[in-house]
Amino acid sequence: MGLRDRWEERVLPRLTHQALQAEPALTWRRDVCAGARGVVLEIGFGSGPNLEHYPAAVTTVLAAEPADLAWELAAERMAAFGRPVSRVATDAASLPAADGSVDTVVSTWALCTVPRVEDALREARRVLRPGGTLRFVEHGLSPDARVARAQRRIQPWWGPVAGGCHVDRDVTALMTAAGLSVEVERAADVAGWPGRSWGWFTAGSARPA
Ligand SMILES: C[S@@+](CC[C@H](N)C(=O)[O-])C[C@H]1O[C@@H](n2cnc3c(N)ncnc32)[C@H](O)[C@@H]1O
Repeated sequence: MGLRDRWEERVLPRLTHQALQAEPALTWRRDVCAGARGVVLEIGFGSGPNLEHYPAAVTTVLAAEPADLAWELAAERMAAFGRPVSRVATDAASLPAADGSVDTVVSTWALCTVPRVEDALREARRVLRPGGTLRFVEHGLSPDARVARAQRRIQPWWGPVAGGCHVDRDVTALMTAAGLSVEVERAADVAGWPGRSWGWFTAGSARPA
């Protein structure tokens, strides 16, 4: 295993696991998960940090997650969850779920990293049942032009260092382009300089338009 593979497969999942467990991310995570129901498909399941925040109305979790280490780190949480959790895909851009078979798609800070994000959003739309929702919280392109310029400047080196993460994706525009109708519930800058390039959070729901 080369240095880059080791970084992406053995180190990054642990760093992500730590960084997104604490405030300010935690409150956003809780709000997103509270709206999940029934059969949930998670894009970028990671180490399973959402499991403990799902309400009793969630019956099953289907995970799309490429990182083996993240999946291993999720073992204890899955045991504590007590409802079925299975890893159904390693790329959210290609899901084995049938059309209209999922009640809620959840994405928490994952669409920044999925390489074929447009395909992943089209897949999310396809698998959602009529009336189903995509619940999301993502970091992405700031509406502040100065911050957006900084984001575009740092992206060429940030992406390779951070496992393909994009700080400059306009996530709600991508959802709209994929045929989803987006309702933003909360959007805010959660970080001061020098962290503003990473700190524009957007959360809400999206439904097949
Ligand atoms: C920043 S982490 C977020 C993890 C988790 N959702 C959370 O809230 O902590 C992004 C996740 O997306 C996953 N990912 C990367 N490419 C993916 C793909 N093509 N399909 C699904 N997940 C992907 C990464 O392995 C990682 O677990």
